[in-house]
Amino acid sequence: MSESQQHFFTADPEVASARQTINMVLADLSVKLDTDSGVFSSDRLDRGTRILLEHAPKPPVSGQILDLGTGYGPIAIATAMRSRQAHVWAVDINNRALGLTRENAARAGVTNITAARPEEVPEDIQFAAIYSNPPIHVGKAALHELLLMWLPRLAPNGAAYMVVQKNLGSDSLAKWLNTQGYPTERLASEVGYRILRTTPPSQESSTVQA
Ligand SMILES: C[S@@+](CC[C@H](N)C(=O)[O-])C[C@H]1O[C@@H](n2cnc3c(N)ncnc32)[C@H](O)[C@@H]1O
Repeated sequence: MSESQQHFFTADPEVASARQTINMVLADLSVKLDTDSGVFSSDRLDRGTRILLEHAPKPPVSGQILDLGTGYGPIAIATAMRSRQAHVWAVDINNRALGLTRENAARAGVTNITAARPEEVPEDIQFAAIYSNPPIHVGKAALHELLLMWLPRLAPNGAAYMVVQKNLGSDSLAKWLNTQGYPTERLASEVGYRILRTTPPSQESSTVQA
């Protein structure tokens, strides 16, 4: 596995730390974020992440929100800044990423955020929204397993917004989600990226499946 992909799978990246600070500047906010080697897109705000933050609907004003695969925390921190009454769960398996997210949130004065490993998120929490630049590189089977672990935790009126590159299978992912009973539509398409909107199975179809 190349060093550049290690962060997708590793709790504690072996590559030596090499901190950098980037500026995340969006239309409504500007914040400094520390990144590090062994963490996704350590030299700049990922293009897909920027597209998600610029084009997905604004987060619900309150409730629990999930950033699945938070990295150094750009999606979680922007979401927490946009919805101060909500609580954002910034979830990752990479401890270096979680440490950065905690530090970045503290420096930005953002307190409505918890950076956690998946097993640390209380099981009874339902999410009003999920925002994610998901770890496509883990492979199709692992990605499907991951999504089937978290999508059932969407609140009945909730929605998940994911950014996926077209050439990394956004359209087939959308198709698969629909076959799994999770209505999924393409919300936006920008320079090779798609934003997918996924909602919980309708009451009607869950009754049919039961
Ligand atoms: C494409 S990166 C996005 C990172 C960050 N959200 C951003 O936009 O820069 C996907 C992230 O998913 C994390 N990841 C991989 N497997 C995971 C899992 N099973 N559960 C949660 N996060 C996971 C990786 O460590 C990585 O940080």
